Amino acid sequence: MSRPPPLHLGFLASHGGSNLQAILDAIAAGTLPARACVVISNNSGALALERARAAGVTALHLSRQSYPDDEALDRAILGALRSAGVNLVVLAGYMKKLGPRVLGAYRGRVLNIHPALLPRHGGQGMFGMRVHEAVLAAGDRESGVTIHLVDEEYDRGPILAQARVPVLPGDTPETLAERVLAEEHRLYPDTLRRIAAGEITLEKL
Ligand code: GAR
Repeated sequence: MSRPPPLHLGFLASHGGSNLQAILDAIAAGTLPARACVVISNNSGALALERARAAGVTALHLSRQSYPDDEALDRAILGALRSAGVNLVVLAGYMKKLGPRVLGAYRGRVLNIHPALLPRHGGQGMFGMRVHEAVLAAGDRESGVTIHLVDEEYDRGPILAQARVPVLPGDTPETLAERVLAEEHRLYPDTLRRIAAGEITLEKL
């Protein structure tokens, strides 16, 4: 088991950034040996950007508002990740699809977290509360969290880690989401720690 190079993390997040915060907290606490290099959001009002600034991490708003087309935005995101020295991209509630340049340059080095047990309840349009609504509508007895590598297909890349969360009688999408999110906050830093320790191997890191 060989130890990979130090993790230099670049985050993309669209909204609250509570998973980002859990990872920043683990770095600050010394339980995750990694450096947070940059946080990018498509949403200028994202709390994730404020969380980044509060932790002294470069926070960038990059969206179609300031770029003429998807290709220009893809180039801008890749440029920002590269100039920050990022070697592992962490999607933390990023609701946009990454462009081919970023995916090509960071193939096998982009992680995503999904609030269900993939391959169930994934795919285009399945994010946030919609996922929990689908789990309850299907009558599933359990849900959970999946961390996977990102490729061109939504929620389809190789799975690195999963954690199970029971569905309880009387659950609403909100109560289930809360229980799943707590598990996300444990699993994401832990999976990164295992990557940093060489316990999970990313071929191209
Ligand atoms: C998390 O529950 C994450 O699993 C989900 O968005 C939320 C972001 O929360 N992602 C998806 O649904 C991706 N398909 P956060 O901004 O507080 O970390």
